Amino acid sequence: MNLIEKYKNFLPVNSKTPIVSMGEGFTPLVKSRNIINEIGCKELYFKLEGCNPSGSFKDRGMVMAVSKALEKKVTKIICASTGNTSASAAAYGAYLGIDTSVLIPEGKIALGKLSQAVAYGAKIISINGNFDEALNLVKEISEKNNNIELVNSLNPNRIHGQKTGAFEIIDELGESPDEMFLPVGNAGNITAYWSGYKMYNDHKNTSLPKMVGFQAKDSAPIVEKKQVQNPQTIATAIRIGNPASWTQANLALEESEGSIHAIEDDKIIEAYKSIASMEGIFVEPASSISIAGLYYLKEQKYDFSDKIIVCVLTGSGLKDPEVANNYLEFHQHKIEPTIKDLTQILDL
Ligand code: F0G
Repeated sequence: MNLIEKYKNFLPVNSKTPIVSMGEGFTPLVKSRNIINEIGCKELYFKLEGCNPSGSFKDRGMVMAVSKALEKKVTKIICASTGNTSASAAAYGAYLGIDTSVLIPEGKIALGKLSQAVAYGAKIISINGNFDEALNLVKEISEKNNNIELVNSLNPNRIHGQKTGAFEIIDELGESPDEMFLPVGNAGNITAYWSGYKMYNDHKNTSLPKMVGFQAKDSAPIVEKKQVQNPQTIATAIRIGNPASWTQANLALEESEGSIHAIEDDKIIEAYKSIASMEGIFVEPASSISIAGLYYLKEQKYDFSDKIIVCVLTGSGLKDPEVANNYLEFHQHKIEPTIKDLTQILDL
């Protein structure tokens, strides 16, 4: 069964909606074995969204957005992106034969994501500007032209699809977690998860988590309550100064009695290394911000002891080989190809 089919009663699906799938969703919810001991919460889980077909959570929303675009017989899609949305749109565009264009901030998207858009065959338009400027452009062009569908999270179908992450977590845990940790960029995902949790709670009485969001220190408009003109961070996926779903994110934070915090880049990188070396999970820097957030809140003496926490790990570490290259120490033992040398190096 595919994702839209499984949750169609909670999604905008009707008899005319073509239900398509590239195998998105159904991602692993992995129990922490090691970081939990440093944090001291009751239970800690990681939702591995990097396991989606294009390597990020965007596919959940994209599959819904393209299904609805096909229903309307739209033949072109467009998005602005810090990388993952463009990779996802391009993948589904290729699969379904939809003409796909992506606007990206020049030089500010991770190599793996750019490679994906190139390989899938999207029209790549790089602008001498940031994500926020790219988003304004695609918004305007899609408002003026009915034959091109905007597939950013401003498209409500993207949010509908991304709600399924919350459904899966509850289906697996049997209840909602106490706290839901996630990175916040354009703020679509925090909006989607909150809407999913509320929907399930309305239908199944599954209770509600606190939404806990994280932004990078120099790209933290929601935390600072003001637009950031020139956002900066190593976590390029969330290098955003004027989130499209800002109002909805504030509502999610308020209604869930959650919170949002700014995390320094060096802490993001520390967490990027920890989640890989301590749990065997390689994620991109933006995704590791939830882990950095756990450590940050622990330092603030936050009491997690009776809490069940889920961190959404939004994208694969393979997306950003440059960060890996620049921030990991590549220790290698060089030996001659002999059993003697191998025995010695293995301490046998
Ligand atoms: N994590 C990753 C890996 C992302 O790519 C993004 C957003 C986020 C978190 C934040 O999610 O925007 O819903 O708050 N990436 C978008 C893109 C902006 O263009 O790929 P959000």
